[in-house]
Amino acid sequence: MLTTVDNKKKYTIITYGCQMNFSDSEVVSSILNDNGYQSSDDHINSDLILLNTCSIREKAELTIRKKLQSFKKLKKKNSNLKIGVLGCMAERLKEKFLTEEKMVDLVVGPDAYRDIPNLLRDVEIGNNAVNVILSKDETYGDIDPSRLKSNGISAFVSITRGCDNMCTFCVVPFTRGRERSRDPKSIIKEILKLKNEGYSEITLLGQNVDSYLWYGGGLKKDFKDATELQKKSSLSFSKLLELIATNFKSMRIRFTTSNPQDMSEDVLNVMAKHKNICKHIHLPVQSGSDKILNLMNRKHTINEYKELINKIRRIIPNCGISHDIITGFPNESEDDHKLTLELMNYVKYDFGFMFKYSERPGTPAYKKLDDNVPEKIKQKRLQEIIDLQQKHSFNNLKDYVGTNCEVLIEKESKKSSQFWCGRNSQNIMVVFPKKNLKPGETVSVKIIDNTSTTLIGRS
Ligand code: SAH
Ligand code: F3S
Repeated sequence: MLTTVDNKKKYTIITYGCQMNFSDSEVVSSILNDNGYQSSDDHINSDLILLNTCSIREKAELTIRKKLQSFKKLKKKNSNLKIGVLGCMAERLKEKFLTEEKMVDLVVGPDAYRDIPNLLRDVEIGNNAVNVILSKDETYGDIDPSRLKSNGISAFVSITRGCDNMCTFCVVPFTRGRERSRDPKSIIKEILKLKNEGYSEITLLGQNVDSYLWYGGGLKKDFKDATELQKKSSLSFSKLLELIATNFKSMRIRFTTSNPQDMSEDVLNVMAKHKNICKHIHLPVQSGSDKILNLMNRKHTINEYKELINKIRRIIPNCGISHDIITGFPNESEDDHKLTLELMNYVKYDFGFMFKYSERPGTPAYKKLDDNVPEKIKQKRLQEIIDLQQKHSFNNLKDYVGTNCEVLIEKESKKSSQFWCGRNSQNIMVVFPKKNLKPGETVSVKIIDNTSTTLIGRS
């Protein structure tokens, strides 16, 4: 727990949702630290509690609303306590938050974090404080994120913001705005600082990293209007990745998320060429049925997806592959569901994130499609894909038994204080005896056993 040494106001940020939100919270923390606030992980004694929120599924929003309710008592006890809502829910609900949840004092969307100090001054004098303006150039590129809850070993570095894809189920394009890429110079500067601070691993973040494109700033969609010179000197994701891999040879590099429609062979070749780029691709597919992919406005077919998988396996034979899948999307029939199981049997993913479809107000699917798969069937299908994934994970992990994996030690295993845990290149968790090893070291671990989620090793 942090203690205040002077009379600085204390704040706590509670983060929900994706890695991008965790990365954003570090930007917010940096802005607050520069404006006389001090970070604390004891929210009960803080002057300001910020919730960085997620809207991706209804359940996420309900969890956050419950958390907000739990602050009612705190607010009664401490009339100076201010509560702010950041992130996707702030963007989606805007001013409505102030009327729906009475304890909320400020509402700030993902592109308006620089305004937080001003908004806090407004709150102090009793005004409403809402800023949910989305930007076409905000990337927070010049802000040096304050690493929160960091293990000092691996860090997130965001490279793009927003998304232009408009998958019909997804709220992200509405809450995070249009896609923009961050200036490579500021990306390199951030990684250099992390390296100097002793970090060993970075994960490049974007909703769709393969569509990274730097041409001097501006929205991705406006690239067509760029000058010839801008076009010629533009930097794609594969080039950025190569630049980082070459300049930071001692660091491990990961990235997420890849979108099948944009992942290029160039990226695969760069991954194969550089030892320090981890061999793992998170490649959400959402469904195994072309009919459903079309309704989702995903811009590829299952055959194209399979071709991409084949290409990955050919160029990077030892690559780990994971997925996101949604069950019970509108009009998903039992046959469509079977096609998803079939695809899973084809790819045999190492792991995945599986969700029931959750209708999000304002999205194209909400406007045009009937959420017509009964809850019970959504649940049954979800269970079937979870069971199949578990089987594949177990079998894939079994193949590692008897081999050696390079593992970056991150922390103590949750299950035993005698063991360290860390991930191998394929992003699979490995636990092994501590011996005299230390977090931050990369070690070769002999794998002797496995579960469906973890490799067990001997160092
Ligand atoms: N490109 C993004 C996707 C963000 S959302 C990324 O960086 O990962 C993460 C996953 O949540 C999606 O791939 C999808 O599988 C799931 N998801 C998104 N909207 C959803 C919804 N309305 N209902 C259920 N799952 C959803
Ligand atoms: Fe959402 Fe599709 Fe973009 S899932 S974040 S709209 S790639």
